[in-house]
Amino acid sequence: MKKIVVLTGAGVSAESGISTFRDADGLWEGHDVMEVASPQGWEQDRKKVLEFYNLRRRQLKEVQPNAAHKALRELEEKYEVHIITQNVDDLHERAGSSNVIHLHGQLKKVRSTFDEKLVLDWEDDLNEGDLCEHLSQLRPDIVWFGEEVPMMERAIEITAQAEILIIIGTSLQVYPAAGLMDYTRRGIPVYFIDPKPAVSGRDRLIVYAEKASVGVRKVVDELLSSYQT
Ligand SMILES: NC(=O)c1ccc[n+]([C@@H]2O[C@H](COP(=O)([O-])OP(=O)(O)OC[C@H]3O[C@@H](n4cnc5c(N)ncnc54)[C@H](O)[C@@H]3O)[C@@H](O)[C@H]2O)c1
Repeated sequence: MKKIVVLTGAGVSAESGISTFRDADGLWEGHDVMEVASPQGWEQDRKKVLEFYNLRRRQLKEVQPNAAHKALRELEEKYEVHIITQNVDDLHERAGSSNVIHLHGQLKKVRSTFDEKLVLDWEDDLNEGDLCEHLSQLRPDIVWFGEEVPMMERAIEITAQAEILIIIGTSLQVYPAAGLMDYTRRGIPVYFIDPKPAVSGRDRLIVYAEKASVGVRKVVDELLSSYQT
């Protein structure tokens, strides 16, 4: 099966009702990202950071995968599909996608502040005083600004094997994720679906300047009907 790599950002979940942050002047749900998504923010006000992610985790229970998440699942009928997402929601998994890498962590996981490899599943609120087995505070398992991206190596490896790349709903401003497309083989087709697409000037770049639900449907239909081994 041909390998498709799909790189998604906050825009793929926008129609499920989860806000992106570039569309709100760099604020994430009204917050300065450095206050709620950086190690400095955590040191300054743990309670604020925990509350921010608690709200995001609660919101996740209210939202559903949208047509774009679901259409990506259909691609697996004919292709080997790997999704690399910058999103911390679980909407790709809930739509049924099999291979999802979360570059920036997941809302429904938390980790020890003593041992970063100690990661636990977490459904509800995380509060001050919730401790790991080493009696250290638990924190959201989110990659904050300025932190290493542990899944990057794996993401590069997968991207380098792509025969088709699809990029959806990302402003490509957050590195190193934004640099991933530079690791593809030369000359592979790259589809970019975003109402405000942030790339140009690349060979075989096919841009759909549309919402994810509309653009992903078109690309998936095209790829399913033109399938060649
Ligand atoms: N759902 C989530 O998990 C979520 C939500 C907000 C922010 N974040 C985090 O914020 C960072 C933001 O970087 P980013 O590039 O992913 O997001 P971003 O907010 O920087 O950019 C969002 C992009 O989505 C596009 N967009 C808006 N509505 C769309 C729609 N209906 N269909 C398709 N595209 C649409 C915008 O034009 C923009 O290019 C990521 O690291 C991510 O972890 C995650």
